[in-house]
Amino acid sequence: MDYFPAFLNVRGRSCLVVGGGDVALRKARLLLSAGADLTVVAPETCFSFANFIDDNGLWTLRRRFRDSDIDGHWLVVSATGQPAVERAVYEAATAAGVFCNSVDDKGNCSYITPAIVDRSPLVVAVSSGGAAPVLARKLRAKIETLLPAGFGRLAKLADKWRVRVAERIDDLRGRRRFWEAVFGGPASGYAIGGRVDEAEREMARLLADFENSPATAGEAWLVGAGPGDPDLLTIKALQVMQVADVILHDRLVSDQILSLARRDADLVSVGKSPGCPANSQQEINRLLVSLVKAGKRVCRLKGGDPFVFARGGEEYEALVAADLPCEVVPGITAAAGCAAYAGIPLTHRDVSQSVAFVAAQGKDSVDRLDWASLARDRQTLVFYMAVKRFPELMQELISHGRPASTPVAIIERGTQPDQRVVRGKLGQLALLGEAHRIKAPAILIVGEVAAMGASAIPHATDCADVPGTQSDVIYAKQRP
Ligand SMILES: C[S@@+](CC[C@H](N)C(=O)[O-])C[C@H]1O[C@@H](n2cnc3c(N)ncnc32)[C@H](O)[C@@H]1O
Repeated sequence: MDYFPAFLNVRGRSCLVVGGGDVALRKARLLLSAGADLTVVAPETCFSFANFIDDNGLWTLRRRFRDSDIDGHWLVVSATGQPAVERAVYEAATAAGVFCNSVDDKGNCSYITPAIVDRSPLVVAVSSGGAAPVLARKLRAKIETLLPAGFGRLAKLADKWRVRVAERIDDLRGRRRFWEAVFGGPASGYAIGGRVDEAEREMARLLADFENSPATAGEAWLVGAGPGDPDLLTIKALQVMQVADVILHDRLVSDQILSLARRDADLVSVGKSPGCPANSQQEINRLLVSLVKAGKRVCRLKGGDPFVFARGGEEYEALVAADLPCEVVPGITAAAGCAAYAGIPLTHRDVSQSVAFVAAQGKDSVDRLDWASLARDRQTLVFYMAVKRFPELMQELISHGRPASTPVAIIERGTQPDQRVVRGKLGQLALLGEAHRIKAPAILIVGEVAAMGASAIPHATDCADVPGTQSDVIYAKQRP
């Protein structure tokens, strides 16, 4: 982040606007509406600015800017459109330790102003840090359409009830939950729709409920974060991340996804890396149970889906055994996400009528697999955690009857910007893994479908093949 976002309290503070045109007028309007004590410096003002000055009785210096104009001011906006003047204002302000914004002139700014959606007292500010103001304005326009005009009424109502609620619910967590119930329930709909009396009756009812039975019990959600692309999070996953006090997350959950959590949530990594010491599953279960018992709302965030090769079932059982509330929020599992981003249909009417998800983590689990049934044709196999087991998988499938010419695709870091897709034939699998230095996380898809979608994906590009394997059957795909 290049700029620190903040809202300034200018009420009753001396602010200076340099310039007399329409842009300066817009800035003066905003400052005045926020309660600033305004002075204008401009040799001339446009007609509407002159009227605005008269209507509001603004102190105006009808001459060119002088360095000494900065004296006694708290904030400066320069909107003359003349680079030399903007520079002079900025330098004088900076020398005096006063914040200065020169409109559309980032080089002469010590602060920049965002595009805003005003539903006072609720204000949404959007900024691109000066990099793409038009993009910020476009986003603002989208937000405008999402926030009905009555949103301000809801915020005003919340302000009216703030003290009363603080007096009756004395702990912070309880208050947060009360407000979540208000904003997520019928009271907010009433207020936004202008039925303020009904909104207040509903709030009074809720407040009484909270007083009688304080909502301080903890709860847990086992949430799937998908295979990596943050756009693949479900809406529900995002909602849970926004309310959870603690997020216990796996190693595979990216920083980009974690950045969507509530700002003040505790983020705790309980990840297991292959070959590295990590929290045992029992420790994770114990931590989860103890946090929920302590009244925390805990989001247990896992890569992919929490109930697919993620030991979510054990965590669910631990919570249920402790009589604690727990909800499961499914996520897009790696097989579905990676296949989609590689253009590979997991089933296909012509060649595959079933799909099996198979864990191939250790030698023991590979030895226990029912190879005869896995080797049957017209089915797709998706192997998870299989990077180290390619030679055995190849050997077992071929010796149980799956032809060596069966297409395979290895998808490494699927759905992420550096996704790689390596394609070939089952008989080359061990070589493919080695030659392309495949690393976890990766999935292996075996079956006729693995040859599909090679060039169908708009964000995929071919890259060079590897010596020692046949060039016509290998592609590595990368998203830009
Ligand atoms: C412990 S399992 C977790 C599976 C997860 N719960 C799911 O539903 O996708 C970890 C394995 O999932 C697969 N995996 C997870 N994310 C992946 C990704 N972005 N690309 C490729 N494989 C991935 C890899 O096989 C990895 O070794």
